[in-house]
Formats: sequence, C-alpha cells, structure tokens
Amino acid sequence: MRNILVTGAFGQLGTELIPALRKRYGGQRVVASGRHLPQLSPDQDGSGPVVSLDVTNSAAVLETVREYRVEVIYHLAAILSARGEASPEDTWRINVGGLRNVLEAARIAGCKVFWPSSIAVFGPDTPAERTPQDTLMRPTTMYGITKVTGELLADYYVSRFGVDVRGVRYPGVISSESLPGGGTTDYAVEMFYGALRSKQYSCFVRANTVLPMIYMPDCIRAAIEIMEADFSQLTHHNGFNVAAMSFSAGELAAEIEKHLPGFACEYEPDERQAIADSWPRSIDDQVAFDEWGWRAEYDLPKMTADMLKRLAHRLSTH
Ligand SMILES: NC(=O)c1ccc[n+]([C@@H]2O[C@H](COP(=O)([O-])OP(=O)(O)OC[C@H]3O[C@@H](n4cnc5c(N)ncnc54)[C@H](O)[C@@H]3O)[C@@H](O)[C@H]2O)c1
Repeated sequence: MRNILVTGAFGQLGTELIPALRKRYGGQRVVASGRHLPQLSPDQDGSGPVVSLDVTNSAAVLETVREYRVEVIYHLAAILSARGEASPEDTWRINVGGLRNVLEAARIAGCKVFWPSSIAVFGPDTPAERTPQDTLMRPTTMYGITKVTGELLADYYVSRFGVDVRGVRYPGVISSESLPGGGTTDYAVEMFYGALRSKQYSCFVRANTVLPMIYMPDCIRAAIEIMEADFSQLTHHNGFNVAAMSFSAGELAAEIEKHLPGFACEYEPDERQAIADSWPRSIDDQVAFDEWGWRAEYDLPKMTADMLKRLAHRLSTH
C-alpha cells in the first residue's frame, strides 16, 4: 500500500489534519513532515511516521516521496499573509518554489496533490460581496501573488502533465488545537484566548472589518472531501471557493460576550488592517457545491460555542 505525505504538518492546519488523516486511512500510512520538527510532535504517541523536510529542497522532496512510497501529498508548507509582508522574498521562494518542487515530485512519482489556496488571491478590484469563483484576481500582498501563481501552476500541471492536483481557497481558519501562523485573520483565534484568559482583547483590525472565516472541522472536511471527489466531475481543479461564515470583528466579540459576560474588546488597527481591507467580505461557493457537493456545517454561533468549550478545556489542562 502506498502512503500519504503532509508537508508543513506542524502548523495550524496540519496539527488537526494529521490526526484526521490517520484516523481515516491508518496511522502508519500518513507521514507528517516539517522544516522544523516540534518538540512534542503528533507522532510521540507512536501514531505515525514523522520526517524532517524543507520543501525548498527539490531533491529532498523527491527522495522523501520515493522513500515513503507516497501516493498522495497534502502540501501545507507556506508563509502566510502578514508574515509574508515582512519577508516577501522568502514567501515567494517557499510558496512558489516549494509548490513547484512538490508538483515536480508528483509528476515524476505519479502522486495526487492537495494544495490550499486562499481568499488572499483576491484584491481591492475584486467584487467584495459574494465574490464569484471566476473573477478578477489582482492581489496586493506577496502572499496573494504567490497563491494566484500557485493556482495557475497547479492548473498547468493538471492540463499539461495530467497530474491530479486539487485545492480550495480557504478563508481565515479558526481552530482550538493550534495557534495560527502569521495570517491576517489570526485576530479571530486570539480573541478567544483573550476572552478566556483575561476577559479582554486588543484587536488589530477595526470592529466593522468583515472577513470570511471557516471553522477547523469544516476546513479538514473540505480537504478530505475534495480529494475523494470523482475527478471526472471536476471542471475546476484548484482554487475552489469554500465559504462557511462571514462576520465582523465586533460581531465575533458580541457572540463571545454572550457566553462570557463582561468580555471587553478594544480595537487598535495596525498594518494588517490594509490587508484585511483588500480581501472579500463574503464569498460564493456554489461552484464547489455543484462540482463536489461542498456545504459548511458551522456558522458563527455554533463555531463560537464549540470553540469556547474546547479551548476552555485545553487551557485548563495545559
Ligand atoms: N490558516 C489559515 O487561515 C489559512 C487560510 C487560507 C489558506 N491557508 C493555507 O493553508 C496552508 C497551511 O496553512 P497553516 O495555517 O497551517 O500555516 P502555518 O503557518 O500554521 O503552517 C505552515 C507550516 O509550514 C512550515 N514551513 C514553512 N516553510 C517551510 C519549508 N520551507 N519547508 C517545510 N515546511 C515549511 C512552517 O514551519 C509551518 O509549520 C498554507 O498553504 C496556507 O496558505 C491557511
């Protein structure tokens, strides 16, 4: 039996994707890889293999794919939006160079690839409400530029080489098990920590900033469902819009306050406000529904209740 490789496996998404994949396909079949291995890796309970892999090293990517007889790659390694603006050159090198290395290894070794794009592909010229699947994409961040390039490159590998590459455009991901890694929507997760730890939070975007978001269980399900979809039913392959919920920072604070009366949120916008302002307020994911049946399950009230329950438990036990 051939195996599954996850790159960037110790970040926000990988931390929850690895256990989900291991549960579904078997622990030993899922190889968790990262540039830096964490002290407490998901493998410490012996649930599956862990390997060090820098995706900018093309030979190492191919070698790992061959050594572990990989048939599917979930390529998560990347630099995210806010961190990307601090280091545009690295962002291009890792996001575009890393993706190219993964696609080449997939072409040579005959692998299938999942690669997540982002709502960061959109820019200030894109329609901001119910942003369509196929629309103007002129992002103003280096992260967004690497994601547009990546979507084009991934589609090129599908049409030119017949590599089965699939992916979605995630909105901001909200999760309880790991902290976000330097994106513009990190405030949504940080607000929960602030609320539970000290009943206060200073938010780095304005209260009326509305962005599309998705809760981790939906995020993981989207990755697994698109990879299990019938290839012949797909017209698009990469960059499917997936929507779940849209809310302002103020609405999130109000929802949290329903559970934690007295929670006080202040708003002190920093440079990330400009990135947030360049992104859509809501997106239209009808195409993902039509081609592979995508539907989100979590809205703002359901996500908030679950997040507070899980995070309160985590904070009390760590
Ligand atoms: N989290 C979100 O809100 C969000 C939204 C849209 C899209 N995405 C996309 O999902 C994917 C995963 O995001 P995430 O939130 O888990 O990010 P993250 O920053 O939490 O994790 C990314 C991981 O990649 C690793 N990495 C960086 N450079 C590497 C390299 N050269 N080789 C190997 N590993 C390297 C980092 O150490 C980190 O552990 C990314 O492609 C991201 O663009 C995330």
